Amino acid sequence: MEIAKSGLGAEWGGEWGQGSRTGTRGAPQISLVPEPVWSFLLQMRRRLEEGVSEFYYAPQAFGFALPPEDPTQEFVPALLRDAEDAGFEADELAALRLYLPIVVGGHYARRAGRVFVVAHLAQSLDGRIATHTGHSRWISNSANLLHVHRMRALVDAVLVGHGTAAKDRPQLTVRHVAGRNPARIVIAGRCTGRAELLTGSTEDDLLLHGQDPCGIPGHAALGGDSGVDPEAALSRLAERGWHSLLIEGGGGTVSRFLSRGAWDRLQLHIAPLVLGGGVPALDLPLVDAVDDAPRVEMQAFDLDGEILIECRRRSSWRFN
Ligand SMILES: NC(=O)c1ccc[n+]([C@@H]2O[C@H](COP(=O)([O-])OP(=O)(O)OC[C@H]3O[C@@H](n4cnc5c(N)ncnc54)[C@H](OP(=O)(O)O)[C@@H]3O)[C@@H](O)[C@H]2O)c1
Repeated sequence: MEIAKSGLGAEWGGEWGQGSRTGTRGAPQISLVPEPVWSFLLQMRRRLEEGVSEFYYAPQAFGFALPPEDPTQEFVPALLRDAEDAGFEADELAALRLYLPIVVGGHYARRAGRVFVVAHLAQSLDGRIATHTGHSRWISNSANLLHVHRMRALVDAVLVGHGTAAKDRPQLTVRHVAGRNPARIVIAGRCTGRAELLTGSTEDDLLLHGQDPCGIPGHAALGGDSGVDPEAALSRLAERGWHSLLIEGGGGTVSRFLSRGAWDRLQLHIAPLVLGGGVPALDLPLVDAVDDAPRVEMQAFDLDGEILIECRRRSSWRFN
């Protein structure tokens, strides 16, 4: 597949972005993932859970082993360079660049007893994830829909805020790609009835909320009226054996995790439209001076002409 020549830098800034030798000035195209790569990633995820850490990608006769310890995944850029030297196609490399860190992040989080957190939002050019009426289907394109289903297949659990559950009644299942469904979680300030939650709710779904239990199986009260502390929520997930989490919105929920530093990757899909107001993507604490602003590492992907910006949290990330 040809790499889209969108004129975006393949990676922007920081040590995470260095080392790309894709030979293109365009962002890697990620709308279609070659089936062998996708099968490999799913298999890798399963094998890691079984304790296997050596892998072989047969189409390119490429083998590699994961280091026993490297939660920051500094080995990944070198691995991608080796893959490029081994003759991987551009679309294979793009898929590995985006999805391999998710699989590997979940693995190291499991070893450390923590949770690897990825948040995803699709926003307009003016930073909105829904109109002023709450309408949001669909801000992004079908390539992003596929991407989100891939992300669901690569994590143990998916979480949405009460606002999104009530407004959209999402299914949060993997329907458009091969892979298994994640566990489903709703986070809410108060105890709520199952009927208000996800489409097809079952007792396997978890509701995290800030007030006392209301006697519904799968509900967990964490914290008080001020809401659920993201770290307490993640501890609860780890206790359940869920070590990778996709937060699919809305903006309020993602912002609460970001403001507490409880995240590893943020994926912002930028769609070519303007909503003139509405539900904000990110609503974070104020920063007085630009020099004090928390910074991230970034890389960009081309999703059929729309842009996915993936941000990686730096260890210095914090709000004063
Ligand atoms: N474009 C996209 O990518 C995208 C994705 C998802 C949703 N959406 C749209 O975005 C809108 C909803 O977004 P939103 O930002 O308004 O709402 P939201 O983030 O979905 O939900 C916010 C609510 O979740 C609960 N909550 C979140 N974090 C919590 C915590 N730490 N502790 C306790 N409760 C917590 C609270 O519920 P209580 O009210 O119970 O206190 C809070 O009011 C909808 O219109 C939806 O269609 C768009």
